[in-house]
Amino acid sequence: MIYSAGIIGLGKYLPERIVTNRELEELVDTSDEWITTRTGISERRIAAAEQATSDLAIAAAQEALLDARLGADELDLIIVATISPDMIFPATACLVQAALGATKAAAFDLSAGCSGYVYALITAAQFIAAGLYQNVLVVGADTLSRLTDWQDRRTCVLFGDGAAAAVVGRVPDGYGILGSLLGADGTGGNHLYLPAGGSRRPASPETLENREHYIKMSGPEVFKFAVKVMEEATLQVIEQAGLTLADIDLFVPHQANIRIIDSSLHRMGVPHERVFLNVDKYGNTSAASVGIALAEAVAAGRVHDGDNILLVGFGAGLTWGSAVLKWYDRRQLNG
Ligand code: ACO
Repeated sequence: MIYSAGIIGLGKYLPERIVTNRELEELVDTSDEWITTRTGISERRIAAAEQATSDLAIAAAQEALLDARLGADELDLIIVATISPDMIFPATACLVQAALGATKAAAFDLSAGCSGYVYALITAAQFIAAGLYQNVLVVGADTLSRLTDWQDRRTCVLFGDGAAAAVVGRVPDGYGILGSLLGADGTGGNHLYLPAGGSRRPASPETLENREHYIKMSGPEVFKFAVKVMEEATLQVIEQAGLTLADIDLFVPHQANIRIIDSSLHRMGVPHERVFLNVDKYGNTSAASVGIALAEAVAAGRVHDGDNILLVGFGAGLTWGSAVLKWYDRRQLNG
């Protein structure tokens, strides 16, 4: 039997510490003007020294469970999308499971860079649709500040830390995920990667000396890929859902760079007022980005029962993912 799967609870967590562009001017040769005009980012949040990715994930997950009015013991599965796990193993999802007390839940991590939230959401929906599980917790969480080279002005201005969570469960027919698409092009993996610390280049004095434990990125290559794939993934998934661009009430794209969003969505003729943006406040929060934007859009009253919402992400891998959701107002579900 196929059940309709949708979001029944949302949460997010942003660390308290705000780092402005002006502060970065003191670290590297950059300027507020360069960062703002090239990226649209004004400030970002950076995790406290004692916070790891699981701490951010747990806070977002707790908020999502409250929103869904669900106990942790009612979760069947936890998927954490991250590229900055607390440790290589165990999975950060297992750390979240333990902290929540989600004793019934299976748990695994998913690595899809900034597409992580959309990848995890679509993965979760398959378990619900198939009838295998009732409630799946999806978390997108990253602490890229720990993987960022704070001497590299080409990357350190772009990222921020954060987490977003969603409880995915059954919704009435006609609601929930109407279309979904996942993609990858591993031949572009070398445009955005972290060279050392895995089995190919284990940590050594040489890898440390070469600063190989930090993110390496070819900005212009990722930019070209992002603009192209955001447009394709958006149009394809809308068609799959049997809708047109005009039927989408709100676009929630990955918040990497305002120019990427402008060059793709706005070029397709999507008006500004139908695109949710928060890249100015948080920068690129990687796997958390689309989820934080969705949670903020709902909290801001930008999403109503029956609205068609488009989520689209792209990132390391290279990967991309998109989904169309018919929004189910959970207040009806929760009575
Ligand atoms: N401040 C000042 N100057 C800078 C900075 C900075 N922070 N960063 C780069 N520059 C300089 C460069 O050194 C270069 O100078 P040069 O010509 O003297 O060498 C000049 O600015 C232009 O550099 P480009 O890299 O060509 O600049 P571009 O206009 O492409 O903007 C940017 C760079 C913002 C990184 C852009 O390419 C971009 O947004 N790319 C996509 C990045 C992205 O989205 N990554 C995340 C993917 S998702 C994930 O999975 C994590």
